[in-house]
Amino acid sequence: MAKLKVYEYPHPILREHASKVEKVDHETRKLLDDMLETMYVESGVGLAAPQVGVSKRMLVIDYERDEENPGKPIYMINPEIIWASDEKVCGEEGCLSVPGMRAEVERFAKVRVRYLDYHGKEQEVLAEDFFAIVVQHEMDHLDGILYIDHLSRLKRNMLVKKLEKSREK
Ligand code: NI
Repeated sequence: MAKLKVYEYPHPILREHASKVEKVDHETRKLLDDMLETMYVESGVGLAAPQVGVSKRMLVIDYERDEENPGKPIYMINPEIIWASDEKVCGEEGCLSVPGMRAEVERFAKVRVRYLDYHGKEQEVLAEDFFAIVVQHEMDHLDGILYIDHLSRLKRNMLVKKLEKSREK
């Protein structure tokens, strides 16, 4: 496994509509492995392929890992939301592509997602609680959307200014 470069706002790759993965092969799995490694090194809970410069519909999630827990990686290829709850939730989000920043974002409380797994097999999962938030955040990346796009213009401008200021240091 290798650690990959994480592209940061406002890199244009983060704004592309990622293309569908046509075939789940060795190369696909190698990228997923490297994405997971990168996410662990950067202490993230989710990472989408566009964030490492690959405009493909793939993501990795692991929100259960800590010092005592080896974690449980989830790999999703071509994920689709096939059902969303009426109920919404608000949670604080951050993103490896918008380093050091956090903000409250509204999401569906539950979503059912259909995807291909690490071996190219079709799966369905009902994502709830924190998992639901993470999967919606990562799936947004595949459509060129960042969590800051869900904020009001005023909040977004403040956050971007803060980000730019933190980079000057
Ligand atoms: Ni993100």
